[in-house]
Amino acid sequence: MDQNSLNEICRIQLEMSGVHEGESVVVLSQGDERLDYADAFLNAGRTLGAKIYHMRLPTPQPGSGSWEVGISQLAQNAEAVEALKQADMVVDLIFLLFSPEQMAIQAAGARVLTAVEPAPLLARLMPSKEIRERVEVGAEILSKAKNMRITSPHGTDITYKLGVYPTISEYGYTDEPGRWDHWPAGFVFTGGADDGVDGQIVLGMGDVLLPFNSYVREPVTYTIEKGFVQDIRGGIEADLIKSYMDAFKDPRGNGMSHVGWGLDERANWHGLTQFPGGMGMELRSFYGNVMFSTGPNNELGGLNDTACHLDIPMRDCSLFLDDEPIVIDGDVVVKEMQPSS
Ligand SMILES: [Fe+2]
Repeated sequence: MDQNSLNEICRIQLEMSGVHEGESVVVLSQGDERLDYADAFLNAGRTLGAKIYHMRLPTPQPGSGSWEVGISQLAQNAEAVEALKQADMVVDLIFLLFSPEQMAIQAAGARVLTAVEPAPLLARLMPSKEIRERVEVGAEILSKAKNMRITSPHGTDITYKLGVYPTISEYGYTDEPGRWDHWPAGFVFTGGADDGVDGQIVLGMGDVLLPFNSYVREPVTYTIEKGFVQDIRGGIEADLIKSYMDAFKDPRGNGMSHVGWGLDERANWHGLTQFPGGMGMELRSFYGNVMFSTGPNNELGGLNDTACHLDIPMRDCSLFLDDEPIVIDGDVVVKEMQPSS
C-alpha cells in the first residue's frame, strides 16, 4: 500500500476515534517497526488539528523478554508511561496488550488503539458504525447472561458460568476515554467464572489455532473441568498444542480464558492464506465464529497473567446464552446482530 493510501485510512481511523482539534495523541512504536504507520498517523493527527507526536522506543535487546506478549520495555521507563498517561489517545504500534503499563495508561483515561496488522487488511476491514452497533448489541446480551453453552457437530459440549467478568467489545476504533480497541476487529467476549467452565471442546477440521496461524486438520479433544484444561487428545495438532503449552512451564496456561463470537461478515475464514504474517484479527472476527481461548484472564480483571495464551476461532458451532440461541451452526441468529444488507 502506498503512503498516501495509508495516510488516508489512518485519517479515517482517527476521525472515527473522535480525534479532534487540540486533543493530545501519542503514536508509540519501537525500533524500525511500522514507521510508515507512524508517519501516516502523524499526518492524520495533524490534519485533524490534534497535538500529536511520535514516541519511538529502541529495538528491544535480544533475550530481554520484550518480544513476549505482556512484557513491554515500558516497564523500565516510568517517564514514558507518565507521558502516555497524559495523552487523550495512544496509538499502539507495538502491541502492549496484557501489559500492566497499558492497563495503567487506560486507567489514567487515555484511550488506546492497537494497529499492528498488515496495512491491506487494515484497509479492507475498515471499522464501521454499523458493525459497532451490532457488536454492542452482542455485548449487551452477553453482559446480562448467566450461562453460556457451546455445542458442535464434532462433539463440543461445554458450559461457561458467566456473571463474574465484564464483557468486552471490539469493533476496531475507540472514541471513549480509557477504552482499548484493536484495528481491525468485530467480536464480543467475556470469561467464565474461574472454576465455572466444564465440558468438552472438539476442534474440527478448519478451526483456527492462534498464535500458530494454522488450520486444524485432525480433531482435537479438550476435556475441561472446573475452569481448567485437564486433557488434550488428538493427532498432530493436539501434540503441537501440548508441546507449545508445556514450554511455558506454567500450569496457569491451562486456565480457560475469554470466550465469544465474531460479527464481521467481511472478514474471511480463509484470511490466514492471504496474511500469514498477521496476528489473526481477521480470524477472530469472521462472522459466526465461536472463539474460545486458554491462558490469561487479566485482560478481564482476573488474576491469571500467564504468558501462555491461545485463541481458537471455531466454525459450525452453536452458542446459547441462558438457553437462548445466539449462533446456530456457525450462523448468527439474532436479527439485531445480522448485517442489514
Ligand atoms: Fe486472546
